[in-house]
Amino acid sequence: MPAGLLGIEELERAEIEAILARAKYFQPVQSQSLKKLDTLRGKMIVNLFYEASTRTRTSFEIAAKRLSADAISITASGSSVSKGESLVDTLNTLAAMRPDAIVMRHAASGAPHFLARHLPTPIINAGDGTHEHPTQALLDARTILDHRGTLEGLRVAIIGDIAHSRVARSNVHLLARFGADIVLCGPASLLPVELAQLAPGVRLTTDIREAIRDADVIMMLRVQLERQHEAAFPASEYFQFYGLRLEHLDLAKPEAIVMHPGPINRGRELSSEVADFQRSVILNQVENGVAVRMAVLEKVIGPGAGSQGPGAGERQ
Ligand code: NCD
Repeated sequence: MPAGLLGIEELERAEIEAILARAKYFQPVQSQSLKKLDTLRGKMIVNLFYEASTRTRTSFEIAAKRLSADAISITASGSSVSKGESLVDTLNTLAAMRPDAIVMRHAASGAPHFLARHLPTPIINAGDGTHEHPTQALLDARTILDHRGTLEGLRVAIIGDIAHSRVARSNVHLLARFGADIVLCGPASLLPVELAQLAPGVRLTTDIREAIRDADVIMMLRVQLERQHEAAFPASEYFQFYGLRLEHLDLAKPEAIVMHPGPINRGRELSSEVADFQRSVILNQVENGVAVRMAVLEKVIGPGAGSQGPGAGERQ
């Protein structure tokens, strides 16, 4: 199976550290006037998105271009998928054009893992159903490190629609590997008890105040209505019980940061004041998305791909 990036669960801690170190190296490129490096010149990346995306798709495309790769993006509605072609046939067709990597997002959990076993091309998972979203967890870790300097021992509250969140799962795998103390919080109908077994030290609570108390990081999640086949919680009451408001922040550590993978729904999972709060790092997450995806693309198809590549062993 060609080495791509399917999930955080499959990564060793040293590999994660190497990606985060390289992302740090790529951060200043975002604000230079010349934003292009030669690293992936001559490489071609296909972004294949079967689900809606603004941030992730744009950021993969920008990351590829900043490393001088060519990148094209295909969305399901404008492709032969709408003519009934199967996923395997579509992917085989794309692979026959010999791209160097395929970045894909799909509503089915495990779709990229299944395809990776059948294709010669490395696959990078940009979100598979409710399963994993590895580059989101990596950019979240980069953002936490930038603000708090470490992941070890940090108390991280992840709040919202945990049941349907690939962002929560990837973050739990990553944060647990670095010794963070993780609390998952949401309405009981969106908080499956088996998630406590995802990693050692994960706790569950339905009480947002308990989750936030002494938190270093508060990570809010969108309510994924598109994945809920029946209403799991009355929409009109969600904000009252699980929406993050300024007064909640008094319970957290004074230097606590507020995160959200986006897209945010003001007035549903967080108030507008919280979204614009000075310790909200939501746009820093977006900015880090480019640097992290540059690091991931370099690891997967750059010089020395397959090994830990340059940056391995560097500090976070
Ligand atoms: C997330 C996703 O698609 O899983 N968004 C993202 O990639 N930034 C979270 C979400 O859609 O709520």
